[in-house]
Amino acid sequence: MSTMSVHGMWSSRLAFILAATGSAVGLGNIWRFPYTAGEYGGGAFVLIYLICVAGIGIPIMMAEIMLGRRGRQSPVNTMRSLAGQEGAHGAWQLLGWMGIVSGLLILSFYSVIAGWTMAYVTRAFGGQFGGIDAAGAESMFGALVSDPERLLAWHTIFMVMTVMVVARGVASGLEKAVRFLMPALFVLLIGMVLYAAQAGDFQAALAYLFKPDFAKLGEHAGEAILSAMGQAFFSLSLGMGAIMIYGSYLNSSASIGRNAVIIASLDTTVALLAGLAIFPIVFANGLSPDSGPGLIFQTLPIAFGQMAGGQLVGVVFFVLLVFAAWTSAISLLEPVVTWLVENRGFSRVRATVIAGSAVWLLGIACLLSLNVWAGFTIFGKGILDLFDYVTANVLLPLGGVLIAVFAGWIMRRASSRDELAMGETSIAYGAWRLLIRYVAPICVVIVLLNAIGLI
Ligand code: PFF
Repeated sequence: MSTMSVHGMWSSRLAFILAATGSAVGLGNIWRFPYTAGEYGGGAFVLIYLICVAGIGIPIMMAEIMLGRRGRQSPVNTMRSLAGQEGAHGAWQLLGWMGIVSGLLILSFYSVIAGWTMAYVTRAFGGQFGGIDAAGAESMFGALVSDPERLLAWHTIFMVMTVMVVARGVASGLEKAVRFLMPALFVLLIGMVLYAAQAGDFQAALAYLFKPDFAKLGEHAGEAILSAMGQAFFSLSLGMGAIMIYGSYLNSSASIGRNAVIIASLDTTVALLAGLAIFPIVFANGLSPDSGPGLIFQTLPIAFGQMAGGQLVGVVFFVLLVFAAWTSAISLLEPVVTWLVENRGFSRVRATVIAGSAVWLLGIACLLSLNVWAGFTIFGKGILDLFDYVTANVLLPLGGVLIAVFAGWIMRRASSRDELAMGETSIAYGAWRLLIRYVAPICVVIVLLNAIGLI
């Protein structure tokens, strides 16, 4: 077993935490979490989400880091070689393949949304939020998404930015960017929560987010649970090999359990802060929490338009959000690029350009689904919404189940204990094993079967 990855290694344990947090914290926390929580009525969704993060997300994150570090290759080859070592069938590499497909699909719409964020940097910069009201913010957003050329331009710029970093190797540029970005994003979000607390309806937001009202879920309970679980996978970057490939660059002596808890806690904190920054403004301005994917783009401009220094704060906020999306996008592309390098013998640059171009093309279908192709739907959803829904709610949880089964049932006890560096009698190891063997896979399978109406 190699102790180094051919694709590079993190320079320190902190570098890994920063990079993995950079992958986890992104549009999922600030764009997707608030609007999905809003669609399912708030508190009950948030509670289920938190339970999923703790009971399913953290153990699976540990498993992913562990598998990655033990295999030290692209997820496809890691799964193949670990299956060989554990005497299991080579078909386990399909898990890596599923991850590649999920990564390409996610990045194709993720880049379009990141494009919205960049477009909003220029609107903030130009002072266009000054004195804007709910109707104005709605029409500004509507004008953007109905303009395919503009969306294409931003999507293209974002993909070029992503390809540029991945082509150079994630370990070099990424560390520096995240070291500065994460603290900055944190501070700004706390500032925005403080602003929302005094300018918005903070009480209403607190009650909305933290007073679970299960009655609100009504007949949609199954779907709400599925979406909360999907959101946990999406937000923590689990189930597709992103955290696995980052684990493959991690030093053998780092504690996997501790790292996973830190990364998941940071990620969850950012999501909750985003909720606390957005919902007070939603309620104070009579907006509807269930207005869908445009939610942050229709609420935050109102706050920036009213607050002192809002022009600057608005620019900084959207710039930071672009960075957060960027560090996540990088991790979405990395698994397929490492596979192309290992198996096709491509240079990293060539591999990245090819994978990035495929995503760019898929992204065009996503952005057209918002306007010219708006009439074309599958299962009642346009392409962008469909990719979003299917990846987060089906592919990532399925990937997660397979990771849990492999780590808990296929991998020998001695192998996982050794890799997690936990003693035979350690309570933490016992708890992890219980969660990864029974709780995580069974819960995910029940939720998935329930969603398709089988139970
Ligand atoms: N976790 C990222 C976010 O919350 O924005 C998105 C993401 C990155 C999902 C990497 C999945 C992934 F593998």
